[in-house]
Amino acid sequence: MPEAMDWLVGGVREIVQEGGTEEEITARVAERMKPALEVPDLLSSDQLLVKQGGFTLNRIHIEPDESFSIGAGIWDVGQTTPIHDHGTWGVIGIYRGMEKEENFRREGAWVMEGSVRIVTDGFRLARPGDVFVCCTTDQDVHRVSCASDEPVVGIHIYGGDLAKISRLKYDLNTGAVTVFHTGWDYARTS
Ligand SMILES: [Fe+2]
Repeated sequence: MPEAMDWLVGGVREIVQEGGTEEEITARVAERMKPALEVPDLLSSDQLLVKQGGFTLNRIHIEPDESFSIGAGIWDVGQTTPIHDHGTWGVIGIYRGMEKEENFRREGAWVMEGSVRIVTDGFRLARPGDVFVCCTTDQDVHRVSCASDEPVVGIHIYGGDLAKISRLKYDLNTGAVTVFHTGWDYARTS
């Protein structure tokens, strides 16, 4: 693993072990990520591999106790995710390209099936070097698209092993909620 990524993994481990509220943890993880994004070889060439079709989330590191995970998210030109949540906190830093992140608010009771009302809650454009908290467990619904004419590559850090978390997709028009799971692309041991 490139040295800068090792440094990032070690830093996130210390932050997570020290603990605190999700707001405190995500703020500190975001601070740790900023300098790492300036390192040109933060990602190895295999961590930048894009799969054919769909969104790529290349596994970089899963902490053995599953307290956090790090992946490289690659959204190709024109790609937009469904509106989704994560079931945990998350921090994203942009490495290449530009990303649009639209936030949504869930209204009413939290459900795992059926439907729920969601409303738009602003958006942001993120460029290389930008780091933002994409989610906390309570404020967690967004839709991400590539906003550049090259694929957008982001470092994604989540407060668990994302592949093991039951997550929800939302239909903005009908409010329909669907459970889904994402796997890691490019399983790498660390
Ligand atoms: Fe997301």
